[in-house]
Amino acid sequence: MLELSNIDVAYGNIQALHGIDLIARPGEITAVLGANGAGKSSLLKSVAGLAPITGGSVKVDGQDLTRMPTHVRAGQGLSLAMEGRRLFRGLTVEENLSLAWSFGPRRTPFAQAVEQVYAAFPILKERRLGKSGMLSGGQQQMLILSSVTIREPRYMLLDEPSLGLAPIIVQQIFDFITEYSQARKTTVVIAEQMASMALKVAHHGYVLRHGKVVMQGTAEELKQADVINQLSAAYL
Ligand SMILES: Nc1ncnc2c1ncn2[C@@H]1O[C@H](COP(=O)(O)OP(=O)(O)O)[C@@H](O)[C@H]1O
Ligand SMILES: [Mg+2]
Repeated sequence: MLELSNIDVAYGNIQALHGIDLIARPGEITAVLGANGAGKSSLLKSVAGLAPITGGSVKVDGQDLTRMPTHVRAGQGLSLAMEGRRLFRGLTVEENLSLAWSFGPRRTPFAQAVEQVYAAFPILKERRLGKSGMLSGGQQQMLILSSVTIREPRYMLLDEPSLGLAPIIVQQIFDFITEYSQARKTTVVIAEQMASMALKVAHHGYVLRHGKVVMQGTAEELKQADVINQLSAAYL
């Protein structure tokens, strides 16, 4: 279980998160929803060790990781896919996967791990010798997700996987996340502006506004509370 208690994050004197409490249950998908600037990325980064935590605690399976550096958290099985499709664009698809794999626990030999990736996304196999910077947006997102899963994480933190993608690709990406999480019992936290998509796959959700949790509940409860329309209205 991943547990945030009373987390504050501040960048200098800009406080991005105020007293966040959040639980991501084992094997479940938890959605973190909110408009641009609400604090979603700061929340995921606080878990991964990439945001300045000024108060509160982050615990994984009861172990306090609040003051631990990023690599220790990665060693606990936490893996973050940052917003904005960050890849090594000058490297090939397979070089990106190899690099990501080398940061994981390496339980599965690379040849086997990469075949699992290619089975999920055959297009990446076709493009494996091509530079990742030449891939389409959807293919880049597939590579990002694959770079996370090839590290065999127990906790996947995904920052806006739908950003800038066509609906059909978004569907494919979310189907993959759901199937992967179910098959591996991976605990997933997805930050999304696209609440409708996230609440289709999530078990629980949290809505952030100005760095605070303003609503939380099961996906069903949040849908009934009209979170989808409220968040869409917030973008207009
Ligand atoms: N590195 C940073 N330095 C200063 N302010 C930041 C930084 N990152 C985020 N912020 C601020 O923190 C707030 C939350 O941002 P962020 O976590 O990126 O929200 P979201 O992912 O929901 O769009 C915003 O006001 C943003 O401007
Ligand atoms: Mg963000």
